Amino acid sequence: MKLSIIGTGYVGLVTGACFAEVGHHVICVDSNAEKVKLLQAGGMPIYEPGLAELVQNNVTAGRLRFTASTEDGVENSDVIFIAVPTPPQSDGSVDLSFIEAVAREIAAAMTSYKIVVDKSTVPVRTGDKVAETIKRYCKSKVEFDVVSNPEFLREGFAVEDLMKPDRVVIGTRSPRPVQMMQDVYAPFHAPIIVTDINSAELIKHAANSFLALKISYINAVANICEASGANVEEVANGMGMDIRIGRRFLNAGLGFGGSCFPKDLSAFIKISETLGYDFALLKEVQRINATQMERFLKKITDTLWVLKDKKIGVLGLAFKQNTDDCRQSPAIELCQRLQKEGASLRVHDPKAMEKAKEILQNVTFVEDMNAVAEGCDALVIATEWPEFKQLDLERVRKSLTHPILFDGRNLFDPAEMERHGFIYKSVGR
Ligand code: UGA
Repeated sequence: MKLSIIGTGYVGLVTGACFAEVGHHVICVDSNAEKVKLLQAGGMPIYEPGLAELVQNNVTAGRLRFTASTEDGVENSDVIFIAVPTPPQSDGSVDLSFIEAVAREIAAAMTSYKIVVDKSTVPVRTGDKVAETIKRYCKSKVEFDVVSNPEFLREGFAVEDLMKPDRVVIGTRSPRPVQMMQDVYAPFHAPIIVTDINSAELIKHAANSFLALKISYINAVANICEASGANVEEVANGMGMDIRIGRRFLNAGLGFGGSCFPKDLSAFIKISETLGYDFALLKEVQRINATQMERFLKKITDTLWVLKDKKIGVLGLAFKQNTDDCRQSPAIELCQRLQKEGASLRVHDPKAMEKAKEILQNVTFVEDMNAVAEGCDALVIATEWPEFKQLDLERVRKSLTHPILFDGRNLFDPAEMERHGFIYKSVGR
């Protein structure tokens, strides 16, 4: 099938590459001419495991190409996916100006029936607005359908999530686009839910908010564990074996970050408010997440006392493992808070150092994770990179001025760390 994807961010680029991989002909459109040039030249604007190979193979096979022209994308495809950013505004509501602009561009370029699919995370009822906009700005009386098809990929596992989705959601007002949408997704062999457009849009915000709630819940339980001498990991394991609960997303730590959960929570609270409902439960999820960082910082100051002139090593800068994305990263926030208290930092991340350099000033970036602790008063783990489990613990302990390790992601076993001679503090254990 002939598909185009407008917006080549994390969602758009990975979606385009995976659609091409299963045999569709895909045009990826982006208004950023520099990015298009980079992609055309074989470069990669983001790090995502497996993505570079996928893009390269499909470009070579002639199934994937890049352009800065929306007209080109619209003219040469039957289904057009919108995957542009929907950033937050200062009051928590969603800025839909990119979606609106793309809807107008699609309208201006349409000359035959098209299915316009929204993949970006948008407030419920956005599909209706997109349809109205296309109708208003379309030069001729061309028929079209608007579909909501939210994306559930996780950064760092995006290719895997897209190639093997848990489910595909297709929301539409009319039956006409259903068969074609099912054909787009048939090669992925995933369960497909066909529903109305409002429900499809809500599924995304409701799912992300529920996952964030799960994390805040276990973080709150971690605090009770600390106060009572229980171990949050044991509690999470015991809870997670109930298949109604499940073990995933029950890892206590510094809290959630990234470009999705914080933004989507604020948006869902705002959407609910607009619809006349005070979603106080989600406000509490946000509050718990914010206090999680405070509690961790207090652990550090309770141990090191004054941070001025202390040297601290930080492992992890990305908002989670397997990505170079530092947007709303708890690790970056932690670094900035430690700097504000006067600490000087030596930092390392397996993939995110380049992106972190754009945000963090006056820190020493260290290439070797085992060298970060050298001459430091303490070492902090801020991102759940599995690589950190391979740390040379003997070397790290000897290179620290004091063998103090704060583990914000519970990567190590407390008893084992004590055996290695560390003063080890983690979350909820
Ligand atoms: C999230 C959702 O998981 C995806 O399903 C969704 O498609 C995506 O948002 C989106 O809306 O685009 P993502 O933000 O890439 O994906 O990352 P997650 O793996 O969900 O992690 C988010 C944050 O939660 C990270 O900071 C991570 O460290 C934290 N987290 C995750 C925990 O603190 N504990 C956990 O148990 C799991």
